[in-house]
This record gives sequence, C-alpha cells and structure tokens, in this order.
Amino acid sequence: MEKKNEMYEGKAKKVFETEDPEVLIVSYKDDATAFNGLKKGSIAGKGVINNRMSNILMAKLEKKGVPTHLIKELSDRETAVKRVKILPLEVIIRNISAGSFAKRYGVEEGIVFKEPTIEFSYKNDDLGDPLMNDYHAVALGLITWDELETVKKYAFIVNDFLKEVWKGCGVTLVDFKIEFGKTSDGTIVLADEISPDTCRLWDSETGEKLDKDRFRRDLGGVEEAYEEVMRRLTESK
Ligand code: TMP
Repeated sequence: MEKKNEMYEGKAKKVFETEDPEVLIVSYKDDATAFNGLKKGSIAGKGVINNRMSNILMAKLEKKGVPTHLIKELSDRETAVKRVKILPLEVIIRNISAGSFAKRYGVEEGIVFKEPTIEFSYKNDDLGDPLMNDYHAVALGLITWDELETVKKYAFIVNDFLKEVWKGCGVTLVDFKIEFGKTSDGTIVLADEISPDTCRLWDSETGEKLDKDRFRRDLGGVEEAYEEVMRRLTESK
C-alpha cells in the first residue's frame, strides 16, 4: 500500500490518500500540543508508541463488537485505516475526577465515581472544543439520535474494556477521549487513536501520572511514561 497525496495534517498525525478511495494511511508524529495548540513540543518516540498502542487496543475492541477504522499496521508509525468522515464530536468518558472536570466543578482530582460519566465536546479548534450536550449536537446536525445511541453504546464498551486491560497492567484508567467516524456506507466506527495522548493513566499503586498530563503540566519524564505504559501493555498481552 502506497501513500499518495497528503490529505490533512493534524497536531499529532498526518493523513494520506492511497490508490484505494476507501483507504487512508495515518502517519503518527512525535509532535505534541496542549491547550488548543498554545503549548507546543515534541515527545521523542511518541508516534511509534501511539501507533502501536492504538492498533493493539483497536484490534481487541473489534473482537468486543466495536467496529474500528483499523485495517493494517504498515510500519512503526503508519497504519492503513478505513476512510471515514470524522463526526465533529469528541466523546469523553470519566471514571475519576481530573482535568477540566475537576476545574469546572471546583473539586479535587481523584474522586472515584460510582458510575462513569459521558460528555461531548464540539470538535472545533477555533472555538476551543466547547462542551456540548446531546440536544445541541442534534440541533447542529452533527449527529442523529440513532447515531448518538450507537456512539454512547460503543463508548461504554470501550470504557469497560480499557479499564480491564489497564487494570491488568497495574494502571488505573481515569478518563479518555475517543472519536468516531462514518464510512461511505454510513457505518459508525471508532476512529482517531487510543493512546497516552488521549487517556489519563495513573499507576494503580503510586498514582503516578503515565500520560500526556506529564507534558501538559511540565512534570518531566514524559518519554519514560509513554515507554512504561507501552511496556506494561505489551507484557500483559
Ligand atoms: P479534560 O479533562 O482536559 O477535558 O480531558 C479529558 C480527557 O480527554 C483526557 O483523558 C485527555 C483527553 N483529551 C484529548 O484527548 N484531547 C484534548 O484535546 C483534550 C482537551 C483532552
């Protein structure tokens, strides 16, 4: 499979067209941004880790009944995926308070919820990805009610699955963000990535942060954290 013209460059990935109109190639970069691109940097080796980790997790999710965009890992940084139209709706599940939730409601991080929460934000950099409820998403024509039901169902399956996988690695899944896309026949599939860029992962024993918060909050040891979670995931397989 060959890359043809570059279709899109995002903050952490590039997307290329291929000779097959239904297939794209995603190439993961080491670039990292935070706070809607205000903070910029690079995390050495991140692209390789995120590519591999996302593929391992998505391949397993397919077996749990969640369709994904994954076709085939092509190299360290590149993966062939189904061409989808990304729904401009970020889906965030939280098991424990942290990040913008803790800030918005004025609570400490680390409150374990009895049940996971789900929220959406409008994927729009110019507006800073504002929080959005179901009705607003439907009113804006971003998604239908039926599609929302599907997205929510898949998101909670992803949460149950990821919680278990990370638990087996001595890691607590605090929260995560996923994105869905629609294939040409209208099927909703999990797209984008699942990685330490998009999940909060805390060491179950020490509470140490093993994710992108180390970059966002200048905690140091960023590369080491990514390597550590990748090592634990590979060894638990
Ligand atoms: P938040 O607490 O900042 O809203 O983040 C919730 C989760 O979403 C956290 O696991 C990090 C992830 N996330 C992204 O993947 N991309 C983003 O742009 C933001 C703001 C958060």
